Amino acid sequence: MTSVRKILVTNALPYANGDIHLGHLVGYIQADIWVRYQRMRGNQVHYVCADDTHGTPVMLRAEKEGLTPEQLIDRVHGEHSRDFRDFGVAFDNYHSTHSPENRWYAEDIYTRLRDGAKLIDTRSIEQFYDPVKEMFLPDRFIKGECPKCGAADQYGDNCEACGAAYAPTELKNPYSAVSGAKPVLRTSEHYFFRLSDPQAVEFLRGWTQGSTPDGSRRLQQEAANKMKEWLGEAGENKLSDWDISRDAPYFGFEIPGAPGKYFYVWLDAPIGYFASFKNLADKRGDINVAEFTEAGPAAAAGTELIHFIGKDILYFHALFWPAMLHFAGYRAPTQLSVNGFLTVDGAKMSKSRGTFITARSYLDQKLNPEWLRYYFAGKSNGTMEDVDLNLDDMIAKVNSDLVGKFVNIASRCAGFIAKRFGGQLAAHDPAIGLDWKADEVAAAFEARDFSRALRKIMEFADQANGYVNDNKPWELAKLEGQDARLHVVCSTAINIFKALTGLLKPVLPALAAQVEDFLAITPITWADALAPLPAGHAIKPYTHLMTRIERKQVDALLEANRDSLAPAADAKPAKAAAKEAHSEQRHAQHQAHAAATETAQASEFEPFISIDDFTKVDLRIARIVSAEHVEGAAKLIKLMLDIGEPQPRQVFAGIKSAYDPATLVGRLTVMVANLAPRKMKFGMSEGMVLAASGEGNPGLFILSPDAGAQPGMRVK
Ligand code: 2FM
Ligand code: ZN
Repeated sequence: MTSVRKILVTNALPYANGDIHLGHLVGYIQADIWVRYQRMRGNQVHYVCADDTHGTPVMLRAEKEGLTPEQLIDRVHGEHSRDFRDFGVAFDNYHSTHSPENRWYAEDIYTRLRDGAKLIDTRSIEQFYDPVKEMFLPDRFIKGECPKCGAADQYGDNCEACGAAYAPTELKNPYSAVSGAKPVLRTSEHYFFRLSDPQAVEFLRGWTQGSTPDGSRRLQQEAANKMKEWLGEAGENKLSDWDISRDAPYFGFEIPGAPGKYFYVWLDAPIGYFASFKNLADKRGDINVAEFTEAGPAAAAGTELIHFIGKDILYFHALFWPAMLHFAGYRAPTQLSVNGFLTVDGAKMSKSRGTFITARSYLDQKLNPEWLRYYFAGKSNGTMEDVDLNLDDMIAKVNSDLVGKFVNIASRCAGFIAKRFGGQLAAHDPAIGLDWKADEVAAAFEARDFSRALRKIMEFADQANGYVNDNKPWELAKLEGQDARLHVVCSTAINIFKALTGLLKPVLPALAAQVEDFLAITPITWADALAPLPAGHAIKPYTHLMTRIERKQVDALLEANRDSLAPAADAKPAKAAAKEAHSEQRHAQHQAHAAATETAQASEFEPFISIDDFTKVDLRIARIVSAEHVEGAAKLIKLMLDIGEPQPRQVFAGIKSAYDPATLVGRLTVMVANLAPRKMKFGMSEGMVLAASGEGNPGLFILSPDAGAQPGMRVK
């Protein structure tokens, strides 16, 4: 395609009640790389995102933190924006679904669906209601005993113990996970988008199997197949209507003409893409929004709308969203780019193993974000396959490719240019061309097969290193009469280094900017990446570009994210996978689409436990006999605790950030005395001391009993 493409690219909007973690970053980094590549090609790209702010979990989370929902989402907006910026994910706009633009689009789309397409129905449904909290309960906020196997504390939609799926009304002894109250059934009028309408099904059959104007698939093959399964054969109608309303109290937008009824969070979440874009356009003044959003003008202008999403939200983006847009007279998306989940060292991310790694903790440990960008790019092949972050492999790959092969070219040659040739380059050596397989690399970037692109680029780096090794500038430098040759060899190596930088620039934008400064050149575009610099061009002295990753940095990262209180259950990938497959199956049955959204968020609340459960925890008053720093542990203090036993217990406590060991000696505190002993790198830990911490308030506070308590006393 030779003309300039006009593309609106979006990433899934993260919920405004949780941290960005490495699992999120897979999709954001993929989209950012693709956007940067398109821009290097001269295409016009608008890249937007926002926080997904509405819904019950945000409302309850704010309440738990003693904030208004607005205060919570403001704080999280700042945190998310900084996380993305610091990983080089450069949105043109990072907005919010709780915005006037979003309200406007949500109301417009809804009223067009209601009055124009006549696809909105109302009907009464019976749902569990929490009489104490006075609210209807989403499935994930109802718990009880599994109707099939009797396991306690199971969620309202499926059992983690036996995998059974059921309706919340089937749970035995149900209780509200919000207040603990016994829920009652109540009837309420809900609003539905009539997705089962034959014209909607027909439209979706065509849309999901369609292609983009340049002939690529609209959905990757695996996604298109999944949609065939969900939509069924021609003539079949497997879709059910979509419940788009929720009753007050709810944090969201009230539905026009329906007091006390709110748009379900998933109704206005994708609309947030348009809201963010409109907000950008209003700030910029030179963007024609309708060209990208309205059906007629969009088609006429040949614009593209491309959503990058994770596979867990395919259902929303491949069914509800395009149908809503199409029947409201808006343009349906051109393409979805769906990524898989992240596993770490082959297993689901786990808080107890420290592999549930937040974006901020990665940055706080001073790990270079471009290491992760490079590694994720190397694992991304444009399919929905899961991406595994193998930490040893990441260390090896970054150190060998980026430091050993790429940066090394410049570090071996630049010194001679500075010292021997006044910083000026000679003409490029015609013996080694710069006509590298740029078209193949470009095709791979275009197809989001970044893994293939990087393999090709690294072949080029190997060739460059071969050239340097064959010509041995360090030997030429010692020989009489070889100055001209030395000059050519080093200049040629610098030209290849510049070309490699250009090809890697979508993946490593910060490093590329440093190189552009070092080479004293304007930002490299795709068109000029492979052109040698002219003879006489002056470069700056070489300064260090990238360090190697050390294993100890990665260990510190895991330690910083390890939550010794996390249930061991999160370390069972098989079960998690079964649950995921199961939930997909449920989607196929078109039940409770709400559940998928509210699952992750609901986990912030600990389930209620019985008094018997509580008494299983043996809490004792402990006197801190000694407290010492632990060599090589960033967070730990070694405590010896007297709980009235013949020998004190050894406990490693993650409280170093808050306490000087000397101030702890002699204090009384509270410990869990019957926690199974745990072998740590530094020795056995035979219990745990309790400490308070809060997300908004930095700090860590160990507990102290009132005067009179003695070591060994039971706390209950
Ligand atoms: O699954 C999620 O994290 C949702 N917050 C994604 C929303 S994407 C878009 F539709 F807003
Ligand atoms: Zn069960």
